[in-house]
Amino acid sequence: MRRLKPKRESWGSRLGIIMAVAGSAVGLGNFLRFPVQAAGNGGGAFMIPYFVALLVLGIPLVWIEWALGRYGGGFEHGTAPGIFHSLLQKNRFVKYFGVIGIFGPFVIFIYYTFIESWTLGYSFYSLKGVLAQLHDQSSIQAFLKGYQGLEQNSFFSNIGPAYLFFIATFFLNIFVIYYGIRGGIEVLCKIALPVLFLFGIILAVRVLTLGAPDPARPDWNLVNGLGFLWNPDFSALKSAKVWLAAAGQIFFTLSVGIGVILTYASYLSRGDDVALSGLTAVSMNEFAEVILGGCIIIPAAFVFFGPVDVQAIAKQGAFDLGFVTMPLILGKIPLAAVLSFLWFALLFMAGVTSSVSLAQPAVAFLEDEFDISRKKAVGIFAVVSFVLCQPAIFFLSRGVVNELDFWGGTFCLVLFGTVETILFAWVFGMDRAWEEIHHGADIAVPRVYKFIIRYVTPVFLLVILGFWFYQEGL
Ligand code: PFF
Repeated sequence: MRRLKPKRESWGSRLGIIMAVAGSAVGLGNFLRFPVQAAGNGGGAFMIPYFVALLVLGIPLVWIEWALGRYGGGFEHGTAPGIFHSLLQKNRFVKYFGVIGIFGPFVIFIYYTFIESWTLGYSFYSLKGVLAQLHDQSSIQAFLKGYQGLEQNSFFSNIGPAYLFFIATFFLNIFVIYYGIRGGIEVLCKIALPVLFLFGIILAVRVLTLGAPDPARPDWNLVNGLGFLWNPDFSALKSAKVWLAAAGQIFFTLSVGIGVILTYASYLSRGDDVALSGLTAVSMNEFAEVILGGCIIIPAAFVFFGPVDVQAIAKQGAFDLGFVTMPLILGKIPLAAVLSFLWFALLFMAGVTSSVSLAQPAVAFLEDEFDISRKKAVGIFAVVSFVLCQPAIFFLSRGVVNELDFWGGTFCLVLFGTVETILFAWVFGMDRAWEEIHHGADIAVPRVYKFIIRYVTPVFLLVILGFWFYQEGL
């Protein structure tokens, strides 16, 4: 006799899913990736493609994923392969292409959780006052390397402590997913997100009241520090790489183009709103990214190190900026230990609310398509991902992370997003798609978006991809 399938899970409240989606979106990317991408791609020049990409790619993709996810959930499919299949029954290719929507988040989960675990370790060592005692770049750098077990004669001469924090982080993730959508993810995000915002606001206010800390260098001041990020530099607009980076950052920060929001939205009920809820989550993410993310790290580095150094630091990437420069800066301000704890705890909460969302597609796939219980699905996920995390921990170099981040965190997202848009607007059909977005909606989406989703979003994406292939000579 066929076992009756238990009913699929659902979110406990509207606030719950908004917080979960915002929790997925607000992550390490907002505080570490964004400032580096902005500074490395022309500072102010990056912001123009960034906002264009937000309006014509990010927001449409958010609506597309929320609508498609809810649609697929109605057929008990919570991940891209099943959802694409229910859209286009006779086409195997799209079903298999949808596997990117499980694989992609899984790959990101593997390295993201390890980096997230450093923020837990650093929160601990901040509170202990260890970080605040390190006053120069080389000792903090040595601390970072030692922490990763890469260098002798530092605070840690082996990987031990880092590994313990990794285990704690990994099992926290598994624990949350084990308790499910409503009892795990929703509860976590409803607690962690407000605390994260509070910590972020405290840090931003502290940085914004720094003025010009070095009397000998009055031009290393906050206004110039903010200008470094916000003064436009139009020369970079000609580069396809900057446009691709801006599009990639929008996708990465909003967690779209990878199947994660699809999965979260599949636990909505048919009558639930998607238009306003999606937009609310976007607004929370953008506040965290451009206001908090943009007003903490770069201006703070500027007032202490001046423009040339900030540029050099930004070129070294997110790790140095977050794990070396920030402790160094905070060490120069009173209450260093507390501030540095706030910074790393903020990163940790941002990280954990994102990593659980990266795990959910694989778990949902096992549950929905293989008809197994959540317990079993989480068990399989835990074992496989734990094993695959090991090479990431022991052999991951920055070069590999950057490479994975480019392919997984930029290229795949843009490619997958392009396919989603075409499927939604052209295969499903724009009239049905428009109706789907408005079903149960609490706002009317401006009509211009019907045009944008149908023409501008896919063409813009194809042009960026094509131009990039051309520039790279592929
Ligand atoms: N949006 C997260 C961040 O900004 O850090 C990262 C992320 C989470 C990307 C989930 C993609 C995803 F599916």
